[in-house]
Amino acid sequence: MIDLRSDTVTRPSAAMRQAMANAEVGDDVYGEDPTVNALQERVAGLLGKEDALFVASGTMGNQICLRVHTSPGDEVICEAGSHFLHFEGGAMPVLSGIQARTIVGHRGMIEAEQVRTALRANTYYFPRSKVVALENTHNLAGGTVLPLASIQEISGFCQKNRLALHLDGARLWNASIASGVSLETYGQLFDSISICLSKGLGAPAGSVIAGSREFIAEARRVRKQLGGGMRQIGLLAAAGHYAIDTNLSRLAEDHANAREFAEIIASSPDVEIDLENVQTNIIIARLHGDISASQFCQKMQQKGVRISMMDEQTLRAVTHLDVSREQVVEAAHIFLNQLSQ
Ligand SMILES: Cc1ncc(COP(=O)(O)O)c(C=O)c1O
Repeated sequence: MIDLRSDTVTRPSAAMRQAMANAEVGDDVYGEDPTVNALQERVAGLLGKEDALFVASGTMGNQICLRVHTSPGDEVICEAGSHFLHFEGGAMPVLSGIQARTIVGHRGMIEAEQVRTALRANTYYFPRSKVVALENTHNLAGGTVLPLASIQEISGFCQKNRLALHLDGARLWNASIASGVSLETYGQLFDSISICLSKGLGAPAGSVIAGSREFIAEARRVRKQLGGGMRQIGLLAAAGHYAIDTNLSRLAEDHANAREFAEIIASSPDVEIDLENVQTNIIIARLHGDISASQFCQKMQQKGVRISMMDEQTLRAVTHLDVSREQVVEAAHIFLNQLSQ
């Protein structure tokens, strides 16, 4: 089976498992796990932040950050397709008592002028605008990389208007490899960042959130409240170290494979695909004609390829380290064949 549903489906390699088995560990709730501490320092350093915290998942990372930035009744300004709005189980209002003000962006990006328009006046009957949240790369937009100049403008706007700026950087690694912009350059524009080890980097679990020392101290408290204080978790942090050492620079291969897949399927008149959107490892394609996306996914699965369905006409395929270029090309040809049948 060629599994292109997500870059989360990767399995830890033998070498990654060995690194996990060899990890030095301690009780992380006491702050005594040396492998976790080293990973936190490492990721904080990469992102140019004072401190960082290992968390169970990207969802936990986003939700802790939003909670620390806000009080109940506050509002988050974000792009309408943000992951934390659609795919995190409605956690934001439940865990933080806050709501979203959404803006439809272009290729996942919103502009400072749109944020200005969405900002609430300081009147008692309005919710308080507290946070702006961006997502880079933007999953629903198709793995697009947010333009640096637009992020810089929003960052400046947020500073002037006392808004916190959060980044869902689940795939910030991909954005950095694709754009050549360093993680630190991105990191310094945000008050908080959540970055995942379990997507393109191939670790079995774990994300890291980064911010100021004060922010992370509060995030540690919220993580504990949510039941996310884990003990000898250096086992997972070791997988994170291994993933950064070994799997970061190879993300360019995933990006090249995604482009190849996209270009092959774009040759069909029955598919609508914006090749300019294929900037990293995600391909979003819309089907024309009578077949629904769910029927098409089933047909593909019968031929040994798994892709996912975004809505009744829209499909998503994601490349990752457990699929080779040959497999991706084979999957694209199966896709074309199934369309023509
Ligand atoms: C952009 C983005 N943010 C956050 C998450 C949540 O990560 P997790 O599945 O680890 O909770 C995902 C998961 O795919 C994602 O794509």
